[in-house]
Amino acid sequence: MASPATSSCLLFLLALLLPLSAFAVPRRLRFPSLELASFNASEPPSTFFEVDRPIRPPRGSVGPCSALLLSGSFGYTYGRPPSTAAYAPPECLGAARGRGGSVALAVLEWTADCRGRQFDRIFGVWLSGAELLRSCTAEPRPNGILWSVSRDVTRYAALLSEPGEIAVYLGNIVDRTYTGVYHANLTLHLYFDSAPPPPPQQQHADLILPISRSLPLYDGQWFAIQNSTDVQSKKLAIPSNTYRAVLEVFVSFHGSDEFWYTNPPNEYIEANKLSGLPGNGAFREIIVKVDEDIVGAVWPFTVIYTGGVNPLLWRPITGVGSFNLPTYDIDITPFLGKFLDGKEHDFGFGVTNALDVWYIDANLHLWLDHKSVRTTGGLVSYDAAASEHVQSEFSGLTGRFVTTASRHVSATGWVESSHGKVMTTFNQRFSYVNSNVYSKSGSVQVVNQTIDTKSDVSATIGGTVLLSEEVHQVFPLYLFDGTSDEVGDEYSLVSVVKLGISEKRQQDFSNSSLQNAQSARGSMRVKKNLVVSGSGENHQVYRYVGTDGCYFRDVSSKNYTVVLDHSDGSCLRRPRDVGSRFFSRLSIPSVDGAVNVES
Ligand SMILES: *[C@@H]1O[C@H](CO)[C@@H](O)[C@H](O)[C@H]1NC(C)=O
Ligand SMILES: *[C@@H]1O[C@H](CO)[C@@H](O)[C@H](O)[C@H]1NC(C)=O
Ligand SMILES: *[C@@H]1O[C@H](CO)[C@@H](O)[C@H](O)[C@H]1NC(C)=O
Ligand SMILES: *[C@@H]1O[C@H](CO)[C@@H](O)[C@H](O)[C@H]1NC(C)=O
Ligand SMILES: *[C@@H]1O[C@H](CO)[C@@H](O)[C@H](O)[C@H]1NC(C)=O
Ligand SMILES: *[C@@H]1O[C@H](CO)[C@@H](O)[C@H](O)[C@H]1NC(C)=O
Repeated sequence: MASPATSSCLLFLLALLLPLSAFAVPRRLRFPSLELASFNASEPPSTFFEVDRPIRPPRGSVGPCSALLLSGSFGYTYGRPPSTAAYAPPECLGAARGRGGSVALAVLEWTADCRGRQFDRIFGVWLSGAELLRSCTAEPRPNGILWSVSRDVTRYAALLSEPGEIAVYLGNIVDRTYTGVYHANLTLHLYFDSAPPPPPQQQHADLILPISRSLPLYDGQWFAIQNSTDVQSKKLAIPSNTYRAVLEVFVSFHGSDEFWYTNPPNEYIEANKLSGLPGNGAFREIIVKVDEDIVGAVWPFTVIYTGGVNPLLWRPITGVGSFNLPTYDIDITPFLGKFLDGKEHDFGFGVTNALDVWYIDANLHLWLDHKSVRTTGGLVSYDAAASEHVQSEFSGLTGRFVTTASRHVSATGWVESSHGKVMTTFNQRFSYVNSNVYSKSGSVQVVNQTIDTKSDVSATIGGTVLLSEEVHQVFPLYLFDGTSDEVGDEYSLVSVVKLGISEKRQQDFSNSSLQNAQSARGSMRVKKNLVVSGSGENHQVYRYVGTDGCYFRDVSSKNYTVVLDHSDGSCLRRPRDVGSRFFSRLSIPSVDGAVNVES
């Protein structure tokens, strides 16, 4: 695995070795923090944030009861063991369970500060090997920065009620230039209900098994996937009274694949002798296998970390998903019949076209039949098919590559437990189109990509629907990156990024729609591997409408300063109108059949 600091420096050195006309091509897209000429050292620390809807405790719940889980400093931590702390369930949790109550909401909060100059660093938080949070640090300033991330971790209630071990890996490197040391606190906030919901509709799993690497390690507990043939896996036996199983996958991409959606095909790199420019084309797919079966896939959201493209775009509003990386659920209940034999099975991850490096692991959420020691099951039907097509035209450094891909996975199976004989169907359907255009002798690159994913799960008993969930997500991305005014080891970089998530969920009697998008632009003057001057601005609109409430926010920043910020937590405004001009300008598609909740 490459050192986190060397990947960008390596690209820069390669850039120097190339003839001037090709200087811009092995473009660096990851930068450490930078300061504007107008920097004022007596200003208070800046607070960075990711726009998200607030996590609201359910009506009638009591709390919070809060416990500090770990407090740590991350200086020279790269390639060292994770920071760990023993975990004991907070006393209030035992007391609530003793009264017959259950966890209504659990929130994991990471708060951190840093001062100086530093790269963006990826980090992970694990409890007993199960990942609870994947995140990226904010990049510091000389006068200091602060930020916090909160994640709803209620689905890990079973894990939170057992003693265990917390591990945090944040691989940082400190030297004379990159001085930033991250200081962080990790806190758990719990809210309680008076009674748990009855099975089998019970929302959260009885048991969570980590599919990750075990400590001791000089790294995070994630698997590091380095190339397209690399498959990392773990053998695991599941309890023979399991009646439902969901795999939750954590993913982040780094090094040569940090900007995988901008990578050209290898023939472009070879023809132009651009060795050092990451290739393998612009399509990536995470394949999840159990033994020999592809049980599902993940087509990941294009998270841009805080140092990506132009760091000034993400200050203080960070990129969508960068502080709280999305996770992806794959329901493997239809396959359970194959895993109920009490034997070990191999849970593996591979990434199509991968370059070094992808950090992947998963949590296996299992629902157990407390009234029997043995459930049985069988796969009724199964199909997984995929295609990828690249249309490539180029002449020298000027070129256009259009990549399209699709996949579906579909499985139906039954499980017989004390709840009866339940038939479960899980479907995933993906489509992808990426256009990558190099113009002006390769000094301008424009990428326009859309990932469209649909998944649904339904469980029926006799003719009665027990469970029905449908999620449709669209991830649009537009990236313009233009290099100009090369003088010696200096150049200018102009960037435009449009990035978003459009999502519709329907779950039994609840539903929601989310549109969350950013439009950012900036310019930078880069000398050697440091940004010497620059400017950046970002405009984000977030619109959530759900049966559980609404949230709207419209926020803009310029050069570290928020210049406009409107938010509204009520459902009183006409949600269709809110932000629609912004989304249509961005060509963020509204997922079909958008929810319409009138006041
Ligand atoms: C620097 O920031 C301090 C505190 O915000 C302010 O009082 C001072 O006027 C600023 N100085 C300049 C030159 O802007
Ligand atoms: C962490 O908690 C300690 C003790 O409460 C506090 O002094 C420190 O400022 C906190 N640090 C952060 C980054 O929140
Ligand atoms: C792919 O990665 C694996 C794991 O690091 C390594 O063993 C293998 O040699 C690599 N294959 C290629 C073709 O580089
Ligand atoms: C990106 O491509 C889509 C069609 O695939 C198009 O509708 C959209 O306008 C393009 N976006 C930009 C910013 O060019
Ligand atoms: C979403 O839920 C609301 C309230 O239950 C319902 O009125 C509406 O029809 C639902 N919308 C869809 C698209 O299912
Ligand atoms: C951002 O800062 C740069 C350099 O200090 C300046 O040239 C630019 O005008 C500023 N941009 C905005 C929007 O304030």
